Amino acid sequence: MIANNPKSNDRGIINVEDFDHAHNELIDLCKRIDWACSNDTTVFGIRERIRTFLMYARWHFAEEETWMRAIHYHGFVDHQADHAQLLQDAADFIDSFGPALRRQDGSAVACYFRFWLNRHMSEKDKQLRAFMGSTA
Ligand SMILES: [Fe+2]
Ligand SMILES: [Fe+2]
Repeated sequence: MIANNPKSNDRGIINVEDFDHAHNELIDLCKRIDWACSNDTTVFGIRERIRTFLMYARWHFAEEETWMRAIHYHGFVDHQADHAQLLQDAADFIDSFGPALRRQDGSAVACYFRFWLNRHMSEKDKQLRAFMGSTA
């Protein structure tokens, strides 16, 4: 978590460990979708894991955006736009299955979210992480 009053300690705003922890959590939640899809999990169970993953992603994106504002990150607008696009793409992707997501759709779902997460983290988050490291 970030400090309640980011102005009170400019050096304390950035907590790189929290940033890395949140990313590890996202990767883990993504793996749970993958696991559920390749095991005998019900469609309801798969949907619940997707819902949990996206809920955490939304929370993480909001926190990351708070960090970016606090440190006056030069890539804020572009990074925030990517977050918004990711969430919209995820919603569109899930909607494309309609109400009848089938177990056999599971591998496509898992693959999609793995790609979705890896692309953002290996580009936008990596750049932000480097910036955070240089200012912490
Ligand atoms: Fe991000
Ligand atoms: Fe992130």
